[in-house]
Amino acid sequence: MQERRFRIGVVGATGAVGQIMLALLHARAFPASTVVALASQRSVGACVDFGGETLVVQDTAYFDFTALDLVLFSAGSAVSQRYVQRALDAGCYVIDNTSCFRYDVDVPLIIPEVNGDILAHHAGRLIANPNCIVMQLLVALKPIYDCAGIVRMNVSTYQSVSGAGSSGIAMLQKQVGELASSTPLTLEKFPKQIAFNLIPQIDTFHSNGYTREEMKIVLETQKIFDDPHILVNPTAVRVPVYYGHAASVHLETRVPFTAEAAEAVLAHAPGVVLYSGHDYPTPCDAAGKDGVFVGRVRADISHAHGLNLWIVSDNLRKGAALNSIQIAELLVQKGYL
Ligand code: A2P
Repeated sequence: MQERRFRIGVVGATGAVGQIMLALLHARAFPASTVVALASQRSVGACVDFGGETLVVQDTAYFDFTALDLVLFSAGSAVSQRYVQRALDAGCYVIDNTSCFRYDVDVPLIIPEVNGDILAHHAGRLIANPNCIVMQLLVALKPIYDCAGIVRMNVSTYQSVSGAGSSGIAMLQKQVGELASSTPLTLEKFPKQIAFNLIPQIDTFHSNGYTREEMKIVLETQKIFDDPHILVNPTAVRVPVYYGHAASVHLETRVPFTAEAAEAVLAHAPGVVLYSGHDYPTPCDAAGKDGVFVGRVRADISHAHGLNLWIVSDNLRKGAALNSIQIAELLVQKGYL
């Protein structure tokens, strides 16, 4: 029997995540009969690469979504707000890599390794892709959650500029050049200087003093683990790194769980690459790779149920594009698409 092939659209195809979505669709041989690159009116006629083939970018605003089976959105919440319903009304499946629908009760928020099984209970055609840092945290924490329970998590993140899109990458490059040549610093995109600096603010502030990025870590962890009681205390920091997010995590488990036991489950956990002993992963080790890299697993010397971990991943891959493609692959495998 001939394999079924699908008509795929990528909205945000000129962006940092969109280009990796295209690369991964090709590299992972997704069963696509057509791939359409969509972006804003600014990019109409521009070319993007799809495995050596050139795709000419079309305007999302005027695109007829009945031509597609599945649309991957990664062009920001405002764009999803505007066009996702149109794609659904046209009969498409949609995987949305923005925060637009993540908290809707009817929209599953999926990390295949963590809660891919809940897709079986959802009849809708819209699936949300979680926040980048949440994705890498929960891939690493799920095996520990299953074995020992997690009552509370303290997390400080170190998030690269590519998490703010291609303009975030360009701003770091520009500021580094300006500082090197002693020219006046351009202060755009980030709230303060990002070159050679650290900014403990990602996105805007909520009234509770936490940023929107930090509250995403709280709310998405609770939704994906289906555990409204798990306590999460985050601080999210933007760092002058191009690719790869890192997180320093302190867990309080429900029952005592040794570092050795944690390493034993992580060694076989899907999607996890474990570093043990005194070796550890850095964002440069993770950049361009698919895994969630975990190291510095150690018992908390100040707390009987405490465990520390260092978790690193490429925010554009597992943190965004790869997870979207893995959801699409799951839809195909399960015959939902
Ligand atoms: P465009 O290049 O036409 O602006 P990044 O996250 O790297 O900044 O990329 C954002 C992506 O979202 C780009 O592909 C960008 O396309 C796309 N985008 C931005 N605004 C719109 C819009 N109004 N309609 C469709 N795509 C958009």
